[in-house]
Amino acid sequence: MKAFKYLLFATIFPLVLISCRGEKFENQPVHPNMNMDQQNRFEQQEENKFFADNRAMRHPVEGTIARGKLKQDKQYYQGINKDSSFVEEIQVDVTKSFIYRGKERYEVFCTPCHGISGDGNGIIMANNYGFVPAPSLHIDRLRNQSDGYIYSVITNGIRNMPAYNHQISVKDRWAIVAYVRALQRSQNVPEEEVRENYDVDIASIKESHKQKLAKAEAKKESKSGGGEVSIERGKSIASANACESCHSTDGSRLVGPTWKNLYGNERALENGETVVADEEYLRESIVEPGAKIAKGFPPSMVPYDHLSDSKINSLIAYIKSLSDNSE
Ligand code: HEC
Ligand code: HEC
Repeated sequence: MKAFKYLLFATIFPLVLISCRGEKFENQPVHPNMNMDQQNRFEQQEENKFFADNRAMRHPVEGTIARGKLKQDKQYYQGINKDSSFVEEIQVDVTKSFIYRGKERYEVFCTPCHGISGDGNGIIMANNYGFVPAPSLHIDRLRNQSDGYIYSVITNGIRNMPAYNHQISVKDRWAIVAYVRALQRSQNVPEEEVRENYDVDIASIKESHKQKLAKAEAKKESKSGGGEVSIERGKSIASANACESCHSTDGSRLVGPTWKNLYGNERALENGETVVADEEYLRESIVEPGAKIAKGFPPSMVPYDHLSDSKINSLIAYIKSLSDNSE
């Protein structure tokens, strides 16, 4: 029993000595093994009289590059060729485990906005958080883009999407591109191919899809809050849906055209035609923006067909009110 007490003492006492580092205390803490924990050095932004400019932090010597920072391989690091066009294909050998790595990274970084299947239905769409909706990755324009383009979007961001080059390593970005390709394929398999290769009942899938759409429609109606149509409501819907990240109301140009004096005036389209921006045009621009693209603007607006009729009518009333032509 006595031996046990000594043993206890022999283990606890040294523990007391070496523990409690870093507590606020007048004296230096007991720190028997110094390793290199304390040494003379300069902190960030600290002064250093040794140099003429008194800065301890130095620029790299001109004409030098730190080890591992050369990144000469533009195709791999930037996804572009010598002539600055995007590379066609992923710059890494694509294996099954590589795609799975991409899936895991995609689900961490992209799902909040683009949704688990890439259809643009991420959590940001759930509660009017006020985010700019992310497009579906299954639209033809994005399916037909090169791998280098998708890589570049992740690396540099695009318009309202932030860049992810600081959070995601180069290799993981390529892995995500591989997974985006897999997702795109998964949503665009021709019906015959499905029928030939998989044992599924296409009719029942179509039926359940139809039911889902109907259910979503009913939910939309019940959530629309009385169906009132007014300029005031349009204004608050516009801000709840982040329309103003891309559209100004004062005539200035953002990602999209300004709403000032849009209604009732002529609008030149990308395909060379001209239309008058009447209510019908406004409605179509909101629920199916790809149908007519305003001249000189990117085809980047996402369809807002999830909004109820009264919401869309309120938005139209609001946009009308910003025009000198509004009756
Ligand atoms: C914070 C939300 C958000 C996250 C997270 C996000 N995106 Fe986006 N993404 C957007 C938005 C918004 C747009 C549309 C930007 C615009 O057109 O102004 C977009 C656009 C895109 C586009 C289409 C670009 C084009 O040509 O129109 C691709 C491809 C894309 N994102 C891929 C990704 C991938 C891959 C990830 C994960 C690494 C990701 N995004 C993460 C919001 C997000
Ligand atoms: C990611 C940026 C973006 C967001 C967010 C956005 N739009 Fe757009 N919108 C555009 C772009 C770009 C165009 C021009 C290209 C086109 O015609 O599709 C456009 C065109 C339009 C037009 C036709 C304008 C014209 O001058 O012909 C209307 C109307 C419109 N948007 C309404 C809305 C409404 C309402 C919302 C919010 C519910 C919204 N937009 C959100 C980018 C955006």
